[in-house]
Amino acid sequence: MAKSTGYKKVKTAVFISGTGSNLKSLIKFSKTNRSPVSIDLIISSNPKAKGLGYGKISKIRKKIFDFKKKNQCENKILTTLKRNDIKMIFLAGFMKILSKNFITKFKGKILNIHPSLLPKYKGLNTHQRALSSNEKYSGCTVHFVNSKLDSGKIILQKKIKISKNDTKDSLAKKVLVQEHKLYPKAILKIFNL
Ligand code: GRF
Repeated sequence: MAKSTGYKKVKTAVFISGTGSNLKSLIKFSKTNRSPVSIDLIISSNPKAKGLGYGKISKIRKKIFDFKKKNQCENKILTTLKRNDIKMIFLAGFMKILSKNFITKFKGKILNIHPSLLPKYKGLNTHQRALSSNEKYSGCTVHFVNSKLDSGKIILQKKIKISKNDTKDSLAKKVLVQEHKLYPKAILKIFNL
């Protein structure tokens, strides 16, 4: 990945579907001097996503897309990304699966955060599945997105201990706190910063 020039940040878009707490932490990070990226666009698959509110506060342009007609929708998104000169995409709680065609157009430029220690527990309900399997540890992973679900090259992981009293909700909370730190670190890492 190219180094940032030091004065011009790489334009990025964050894709969300829900709460957007990772979006919030990415916006905060993007505004710091050490961030090689700016967040210029928020794309949501859900018109009711709470995360859209953070875009409003930060005056970041936001667009909602209905994924019912996936191909059409992805083409519209690609046009929007081009129009806004977006060079990278960060998926953050984005609940739709992007097509191979879409991913190819942004090859090596899409990152995702996943609430497990991949390759364990790809897909949904990660915390419950980790608890049901009596795992001692869980955590989160930032990885490049390829055409297989949660399977792209791992950039960074953070491991946390599961305690005896953890429920899926308490575990989700603990992991989320780490996610907010891990995503910015992973971005710095891919820019060799
Ligand atoms: C996070 O745990 C993320 O890893 C997962 O969904 C959750 C989204 O949280 N994919 P938020 O919308 O960023 O608050």
